[in-house]
Amino acid sequence: MSPARITVDPTFVVGEVDPRLYGSFVEHLGRCVYTGIYEPEHPTADEHGFRADVAELVTELGVPILRYPGGNFVSGYRWEDGVGLRESRPTRLDLAWRSIETNAVGTDEFCTWTRRVGSEPMLAVNLGTRGADAAAGLVEYCNHPGGTYWSDLRRKNGVSDPHAVKVWCLGNEMDGRWQVGHKSADEYGRLASQTAQAMRLVDPGIELVACGSSGPRMPTFPEWDATVLEHCYEHVDYISLHSYYQERKGDRASFLACAVDMDRHIEAVVATADYVRAKGRHTKRINLSFDEWNVWYSQGTTVERAWEQAPRLLEDQYNVVDAVVVGNMLISLLRHADRVRIACLAQLVNAIGAVRTEPGGPAWRQTIFHPFALTSRYGRGVVLQTTIMSPHYETDWFGEVPVLDAVVLRADDGVTVFAVNRHQHESLPLTVDLRAVPGLRRASHTYIGGEDPAAANTGAEPGRVVPLTGEGLAVDAGELAVALPPMSWNMIRIS
Ligand code: AHR
Repeated sequence: MSPARITVDPTFVVGEVDPRLYGSFVEHLGRCVYTGIYEPEHPTADEHGFRADVAELVTELGVPILRYPGGNFVSGYRWEDGVGLRESRPTRLDLAWRSIETNAVGTDEFCTWTRRVGSEPMLAVNLGTRGADAAAGLVEYCNHPGGTYWSDLRRKNGVSDPHAVKVWCLGNEMDGRWQVGHKSADEYGRLASQTAQAMRLVDPGIELVACGSSGPRMPTFPEWDATVLEHCYEHVDYISLHSYYQERKGDRASFLACAVDMDRHIEAVVATADYVRAKGRHTKRINLSFDEWNVWYSQGTTVERAWEQAPRLLEDQYNVVDAVVVGNMLISLLRHADRVRIACLAQLVNAIGAVRTEPGGPAWRQTIFHPFALTSRYGRGVVLQTTIMSPHYETDWFGEVPVLDAVVLRADDGVTVFAVNRHQHESLPLTVDLRAVPGLRRASHTYIGGEDPAAANTGAEPGRVVPLTGEGLAVDAGELAVALPPMSWNMIRIS
């Protein structure tokens, strides 16, 4: 394979990484909440009923922001059901995931747990079956200090200090026909605008995310985003993006390149937001919240299924290839760090989750956990503009794509390169030209790859796929030489 080359120049900066780029998502879906983060009967449960083994993994994963409670679930959710005495909370049918919702976990439990695991909550309001009044009430409940009906109710429920929730999503995927209360772009745009204004009257310090289209392959994309922003541009801070990928019909070559699609998706939404800015003569800039992204294989809900509490839904088991793709998607997010300020890996536990659990049993790291945790930990500082020279290959989905994808970051302690070799069978010789950053000598190479692309972690074998240490790395005269193993995600740290 012909070699690839990256030239690093610290003069040219894309932007500073917002740590909220490493967010995740907890939905009342399947076993994400119940027997996922929360299981009072579990041997590790804390005094609040949350699993300590899961909390430990969540802290290790490094998720500074957690979106909640949905997803599709939020479009039929009455947040009032989930606060107050547990014994008095109603059990409801959740129509989104055909499940029985006990409401044992609600806003107070989630926000308090989120802070305990070193994260901050990002709450979504229901704009499917509800509107501005319920949303403003929830902001008052969470963020108002006291002396009003909703804030005093929070205090009565045992939470004296406000939850101080900063980031709020104005509904979820409102263009999706699967969504309870889905809307046209004009209907949603008007409702989002009114709701945003009401919420901000309660707390002017909050940040608001308008729903963009549910995905780049939706027939509504990208007109939806433009119309919605035309309605609410001045009242929101972010527009949301969602995207999921999977290997289809054995076309691994295309699957490995799906970050190319993520790049195009992000660039199309940036262009759309900036078009609305220019058209409306707005001065401020709308940034992006990529608040659902991941690899996703299993089918959603079916009408034949019996109503159950915490059913086993979307419990995908991820392998090495999925981990490489997730690592590559993080590279795509970082490359757009100037505009993507928030992103949420969907989801955190069990339902397309980075962490898996068994009820009463173990919790373990899925393969995708590893590139995420390492990127969250070391992908800090500023993203540099880099020149990448790489061999190319042809894909059915995206045309010709580079074999190498990479991003370079600079922090106080050195330079970090995240790189993916998309070639399935050959290693890729890579040179990183560091002459513009003098004084760098020590380097380390960590990667996810290996002989068996189908290898996965399970409860019985939780350490089958772990990050490996690369060998043969050399730094000489300001140039680093390394071989990236076939189909691998790599982290190279130079200090
Ligand atoms: O993350 C799973 C589901 O995917 C979410 O509930 C929904 O927003 C999206 O379609």
